[in-house]
Amino acid sequence: MERVVSGIRPTGNLHLGNYFGALQNFIKMQNTHSCYFFIADYHSLTTHPNPADLHQNVKQVLVEYLAAGLDPEKSAIYLQSDLPETAEMYLLLNMNAYMGELERSASFKDKVRTQPENVNAGLLTYPVLMAADILIHNAHKVPVGKDQEQHLEMTREYARRFNKMYHTDFFTEPTAFNFGEKLVKVPGLDGTGKMSKSDTGMNAIFLCDDDKQIEKKIKAAKTDLGPQGENTPFSPEIENIFALFELVSSKETINYFKLKWNNGEEKWYGEMKKQLITDMVSFVNPIRQRIQELSKDSEYLSKVARLGAEKAHESGAETVRKMREIIGFKKFY
Ligand code: TYM
Repeated sequence: MERVVSGIRPTGNLHLGNYFGALQNFIKMQNTHSCYFFIADYHSLTTHPNPADLHQNVKQVLVEYLAAGLDPEKSAIYLQSDLPETAEMYLLLNMNAYMGELERSASFKDKVRTQPENVNAGLLTYPVLMAADILIHNAHKVPVGKDQEQHLEMTREYARRFNKMYHTDFFTEPTAFNFGEKLVKVPGLDGTGKMSKSDTGMNAIFLCDDDKQIEKKIKAAKTDLGPQGENTPFSPEIENIFALFELVSSKETINYFKLKWNNGEEKWYGEMKKQLITDMVSFVNPIRQRIQELSKDSEYLSKVARLGAEKAHESGAETVRKMREIIGFKKFY
């Protein structure tokens, strides 16, 4: 059975981008693949969270994984830091990762620009830690959003390099995966690129948002002055709104509003936003309710995390043991 690995950084509540870029695929794959889904708590240290926030954010992602439909009996659901062999593998892979390629990675360049006061070595070697997460279970497929594509290319490169250096075919070269075939980028509500957590929280719809918050955010989402004629291409703002429709609404609904755009009709954006609010609320509501229930069940959460850690250890420790052997470490005792 093909192996699947993926993770999400615990830096706050999960939003629709995380769901449709990653989590939705996790849920589908757990019935047909051997799956390892983790919470990337080592990765989140690059931004220096305080201990209480770190724990709360890890708990939130665990709860949201389960609320969205991950099944701890089918998949290994675990904390990255509960598989400390990941850190050893990161060290070993770092020996074959080069400064130039790490400095050229788009996410590193982005961080240098946006947080010049905290350009730590963890940020530079972030893609190597990701490769360790993936290769530690020798994964075939990695469900991720479009923004992670370059990291997956680097993972493949590290797998290839290790195999070449030690004349082995030990590592599989894993590929980024989405059920819709193309990796997705869910746009933000404020019209600035991808959906992500912004300071105001108005750019993203979170899985734990209540009806009022969803309504407020969609009402505030940017639109334009209306179609400027018949059959014109969508403006970027309206393209964003339709991208959100595609996630949660039926084909009929989408076609109904597309027709209005194509006919160059005036004054239907109010109706359109009302429909998007209704469909978004029906999508988010059941997940939010499960989030609320699961958050209170500490005993269940600890059972899930323990089971996940055991499953991850069984697979990961064995990979690192074999890797040590290939590299040439031998015990004297
Ligand atoms: P992170 O935590 O930023 O995001 C988690 C997942 O959500 C996807 N995503 C999106 N997809 C589509 N549209 C969006 N607007 C959007 N925003 C986020 C991301 O592509 C990702 O799949 N480095 C990773 C975590 C990680 C990881 C790994 C992933 C660590 N080790 C090993 C896969 C395998 C990250 O920071 O994702």
